[in-house]
Amino acid sequence: MDGLPEGVTVGSSGHLCVAGCDVVDLAERYGTPLYLLNEGVFRQNCSRYRSAFLQYPGEARVAYAGKALLTQAVAAMVGQEGLYLDVVSAGEIFAAERVSFPSERLVFHGNNKSQEEIAYALRVGVGCLVVDNFDEIALLTDTLRALGVRQRVLVRVAPGIEAHTHDYIQTGGLETKFGFDFDSGQAGEAVRQCVASGVLDVVGLHAHIGSQLLETRALPPLVERMLDLVRDVWSGALPVPWELNLGGGPGIRYRSEDPPPPEQFARTITAAVVEGCHRRGLPLPTIWVEPGRSIVGQAGVAVYRVGSQKRVPGLRPFVAVDGGMGDNIRPALYGAEYRAVVANRMYDEATETVRVVGRYCESGDFLVQDAELPEVRAGDLLALFSTGAYQYPMASNYNRVPRPCFLLLGEGRAHVMVERESLEDLCRLEHVPPHLRRLRVEA
Ligand code: LLP
Repeated sequence: MDGLPEGVTVGSSGHLCVAGCDVVDLAERYGTPLYLLNEGVFRQNCSRYRSAFLQYPGEARVAYAGKALLTQAVAAMVGQEGLYLDVVSAGEIFAAERVSFPSERLVFHGNNKSQEEIAYALRVGVGCLVVDNFDEIALLTDTLRALGVRQRVLVRVAPGIEAHTHDYIQTGGLETKFGFDFDSGQAGEAVRQCVASGVLDVVGLHAHIGSQLLETRALPPLVERMLDLVRDVWSGALPVPWELNLGGGPGIRYRSEDPPPPEQFARTITAAVVEGCHRRGLPLPTIWVEPGRSIVGQAGVAVYRVGSQKRVPGLRPFVAVDGGMGDNIRPALYGAEYRAVVANRMYDEATETVRVVGRYCESGDFLVQDAELPEVRAGDLLALFSTGAYQYPMASNYNRVPRPCFLLLGEGRAHVMVERESLEDLCRLEHVPPHLRRLRVEA
């Protein structure tokens, strides 16, 4: 079978294998739905990003965006690979802390960080904090003055650059909730306020224009805008080396997309920065990037078991699996498309187009609208590729369905990274107030 993602093969029995593990065996042993992460592919993508920037004459740092998928095991791998880690909540910082991820390699983001989260981040000693808005500058300044400490920060800019991707994952345009507006001069004002605070060491700028970008066209104009801002705002007082963080965003193949490889993103960014700095007489910055999806997306495979079907003459059949929008909201939310295969009969030819739907009580609960599959039977296993990024972290307990088990696979071995939730887990944080503890029907 051609076109399988990296690390995915077909065994002699026609079973799908991920990282050398037979998916049918894994499903028997751990149940379904089952999420799989290929450790080798994840690590290879980390090192690919590191190498991609070696041609840059200055320093470059790669921060893995934890929002794409962060478990303690993932944080540990990121740490071992020598990457930085982009975190957006106390929960993400906590996971990193639990595996002794070096706090100076944490970059803390967010458009509405709470006072408690800021205090926690400062206590942990995050290496860099990305300031998002004027309220945050005030909050940070007060907190730092009270503690008598300083903090390295980047100022996040909304650069007014549209990226070509789904509206919900665009972040660089003018109408975004993230960052300081460029055109109105607020970004420059933010840098001045940070400098004036006396406790914020503002070392540079940050921008992230969107996610699942399938082209690099928007990057050179983005770099130009950021360099203009640096030249105009700092005028001579620029810290050296200063830092330019261009966010994440490189897209991956879900079905037929053909995104440029990380190397091309790196080349485009590097060339624009070197050329733009030279033209303006600016020193070269330390470049940061924050890829999430393009590191973890294709390292993931989701496995479901087929249950019931609905077949009506003239209608595309509905094939229901034991997961759906609870573990993968992306099709319903963004119209995301996935490739599905029958994991226990990989050599069977596709004979029909079906809708793969979930088990949740909602019509919007579908995983694939037009999957080309052999005729499936109850008990067959369906695998969806490219499910490493933004599925599990966005999962819910809708309909009180427990979240799936997540395995880390490497060299033919499986490790449980997250256990399947139990029905008890779903009740663990609930309380029944005393007056409701006896079921009684009033006459
Ligand atoms: N840096 C910042 C500031 C971000 O906001 C994001 C993603 C990233 C880096 C990483 O972007 P990536 O390289 O993964 O594209 N839930 C959506 C994606 C939301 C992205 C949010 N921010 C999805 O499922 O497509």
